[in-house]
Order: sequence, then C-alpha cells, then structure tokens
Amino acid sequence: MFASSKRRRDGAARSLTSEVQVQLQISADSGAAGFAIVAGSCGNVVRLEPLGTKIAEGRDSEIFEHGPGKVLRRARDGRSLVHEADIMRYVRDRGYPAPRVYEAGDGFLVMDHIDGPTMAGAATKRPWRLSRFGRMLGDLHRRLHAIPAPAWLPEAGVAGMCLVHRDLHPLNVLISPAGPVVIDWANAARGDQAYDVADAWVLLATAEAPGSRLERTITAFGRRILLNAFLEELDRDAARRGIPAAVENRLADRNMTEGEKQRMRRMASWAVEGAH
Ligand SMILES: Nc1ncnc2c1ncn2[C@@H]1O[C@H](COP(=O)(O)OP(=O)(O)O)[C@@H](O)[C@H]1O
Ligand SMILES: [Mg+2]
Repeated sequence: MFASSKRRRDGAARSLTSEVQVQLQISADSGAAGFAIVAGSCGNVVRLEPLGTKIAEGRDSEIFEHGPGKVLRRARDGRSLVHEADIMRYVRDRGYPAPRVYEAGDGFLVMDHIDGPTMAGAATKRPWRLSRFGRMLGDLHRRLHAIPAPAWLPEAGVAGMCLVHRDLHPLNVLISPAGPVVIDWANAARGDQAYDVADAWVLLATAEAPGSRLERTITAFGRRILLNAFLEELDRDAARRGIPAAVENRLADRNMTEGEKQRMRRMASWAVEGAH
C-alpha cells in the first residue's frame, strides 16, 4: 500500500572471518524458535542467526520470532543495527512508543514483539476508522518532533533540531492493544519536523494502489481521508515547503514505480508554485 525509502546509513558489515567464532545452538523454551549466537574473541555477540519462524518481511529486513514476546529483525545487507537500537532506546526513554530493544549488532536487532497489524492493514480492515488513524499518525509526528534530537544524531532532510523518523507512515506504525507503536527507525535523523510531515504526505498522496480500477479508486479515496485527518492539526504550510526535499529523497529510491515518480514530481512542482 505504501512504499518506503531505504537509503540506509553505511552498515560497515564487519567480516567475521578473522574473528574467533563460537557457535552456540540455543533452543527457545517453546521449542518453536532457536538461534545461533556467534561470539567474537571477547565474548561479545557479533551476530545472531534466527532459526525460528519468519513472521514478516519488508524491503529491507526480515522479522523472525525470537522466543516468547520477542522478535529478531535481520537486515538483508548485514549492516550494523546498533545505531538504530540507540535511537529506539533514546525515544523510548522519553516516553515515545517504540519497541523495547534487548540487543543489537551487525545485521540484527532483538526487540519486543508488538502484537497487532500495521496501521495500513488496520485501516483497510476498518475503513470507518480512517480519520481516527489519520489523527493518530499526526499525533505520533507531533510527539516525536517535540523530542530534541541527541547531538550524536546526524542531520538529514531539511535542516533543523528535531528528531525526525523520515519514514513515519502507516506501514511503520503497529496498532497494539496498548496503542500505536512506531517501528523501522533506520533513517532517523536530526532535522526539521516539516520534512517528516511532507514525506508522509507525499507517500499518502502518490503511492500506487493495488488491484482493479475500482479497488484503486477506493484505496485512493481512503488514503485521502486518512491524509486530511493527518494534516488537520499539523502545520500544512510548513509541510508544503518541505515537499520538494521529501520528493527528492523518494525519487532516489529504486523501489518507486515510474507512475509514483511522476506523481511525486507533479507534487513537488505544486509545492514550489504555492511557495511563491
Ligand atoms: N517489533 C515488531 N513486532 C512485530 N512485528 C514487527 C516488529 N517489527 C517489525 N515487524 C513486522 O515486520 C514488518 C517489517 O518491519 P520493518 O521494520 O518496517 O521492516 P522494513 O525495514 O523492511 O520496512 C512490519 O510491517 C511488521 O509486520
Ligand atoms: Mg518498514
């Protein structure tokens, strides 16, 4: 339903061949999932191999069960997920809903299993809640942008001092019984909040809808309702000014279709015209 840009930070996928490796096979209590720990010469965990069931996969990663209440996120390119874990801990410590992280290293991150569908999935099943989900997404943006970015976070997008997620759309929000939880923090950076809002706006307005013509029309209509509710309480003018930067970033994503790119370019032109 939505696409997401994956211009990840360089993962420095460390070669393990020169390290002393210790392989431990551990069976999880349930017996349903096991994993191999690969330890370095100092005994630190440098890689975690899942043997359990894969429960989901995105463009960038695979998610496996990892014992009771936990999942393992494995990056396809093996890059370090330590930085991502640090950001998740940082926002969680400030009361923001991100999964609790247990450990992270090259290509892996172990976190809480969040029970619930993505906001995109939930909105498709419960279209009468589209406005509510839109407001919920807006609230998640507002709350995140109220958190000052830590000094160690690099700048990206539009210059600013906020913590920006840079991929905060309905596919990266899980709707748990306890409320929404934001996942997929790989692109988080220091920047201007308008960039984040603009990016979600661009995706909601331009992403290709699957299915027949009628289905596509319904999906586009539903997205429009969610989008309007999302923008309701946010600074729409500032977000509009952020659209060209968000589009530029998304156009560099090789996962975008030609149709999506065309609509994005049109949106960027519209945003620039509006700024004059
Ligand atoms: N902590 C989690 N608990 C439960 N499911 C998760 C969790 N993290 C991710 N997932 C599942 O994996 C999917 C992809 O996760 P995501 O982090 O967005 O990967 P990608 O970087 O590939 O987009 C999500 O849509 C969700 O279904
Ligand atoms: Mg994602």
